[in-house]
Amino acid sequence: MESAVTMSTQGNELRCFAPAKLNLFLHVIGRRDDGYHLLQTAFQLLDYGDTIHINTRSDGALRRIASDFGVPEEQDLIIRAAQLLKANTGTHFGADLQLEKRLPMGGGLGGGSSDAASTLIGLNHLWQCGLNRRELMELGLQLGADVPFFIFGQNAFAEGVGEQLQALSTNKQWYVVIEPGVQVPTPLIFSAKELTRDTKPVRITDFSNRLKNNWKNDLQAVASTLFPAVKDALEWLAQYGNAMMTGSGACVFCAFDSEAVAQQVSQQVPQKWQAWIAKSLHEHPMRSLVKD
Ligand code: C5P
Repeated sequence: MESAVTMSTQGNELRCFAPAKLNLFLHVIGRRDDGYHLLQTAFQLLDYGDTIHINTRSDGALRRIASDFGVPEEQDLIIRAAQLLKANTGTHFGADLQLEKRLPMGGGLGGGSSDAASTLIGLNHLWQCGLNRRELMELGLQLGADVPFFIFGQNAFAEGVGEQLQALSTNKQWYVVIEPGVQVPTPLIFSAKELTRDTKPVRITDFSNRLKNNWKNDLQAVASTLFPAVKDALEWLAQYGNAMMTGSGACVFCAFDSEAVAQQVSQQVPQKWQAWIAKSLHEHPMRSLVKD
């Protein structure tokens, strides 16, 4: 059977995997004049995510095929990604786009950004637009701060608003991820008065060499206060290791060296929360489709 993680192509069709990400730490080190926050973070790709089915059309139309995840078409990032690529390249092609959604919205797993990135990569390939990785990443940034990372396609140390990326080698791990059942709006967390924005900058080498440091998620305290379910899930998972929130929440995770232990922990998760396990990915399954 074909793995859900891979990508498959057949003529004018492409099935694209859109992996989730975790932020292994996330520091807010400042704020730009335009209000966006300066971050340092480590992005980890997971073998769990959404799937997008693309069929090219010769009539130029862009169609969304029955999607029931509650986002109006004009806000849907896969449609916006397709429109952006079409406007920038002037291609006469169109596409039918169908999203199989597994990643929760407002979960901090980068679902919408990953969907947008896989759509850009898939359409750039099928439409033969010929944009290289750098060009696609620049387009992607217009859709969201995390989109360039997914097009970069490797686990990464990120700075700026998340768009300055350096490849990072990470350990093979199994992650237990809990969805606390709330949607956290990212702007709400970033705009909170209580958010600390002055964590001292760290170096990629300190993270790579696993130097002891206070590797934390600076958004976690604010999200936990505003969304008690996030706090509860963190406290529950902390019995088993270093539990942390990803992105601006709501999901929380804990790393394990062994799949069996991760399975055992995930089976103990209280019924009120959704939980799953995922393995770290070495790179994005669509990475080789983009030329450097
Ligand atoms: O880029 P994205 O859509 O993920 O960001 C959502 C919102 O989160 C932004 O409009 C901004 O308010 C906030 N944000 C921020 N600093 C960042 C990333 C996001 O303030 N580095």
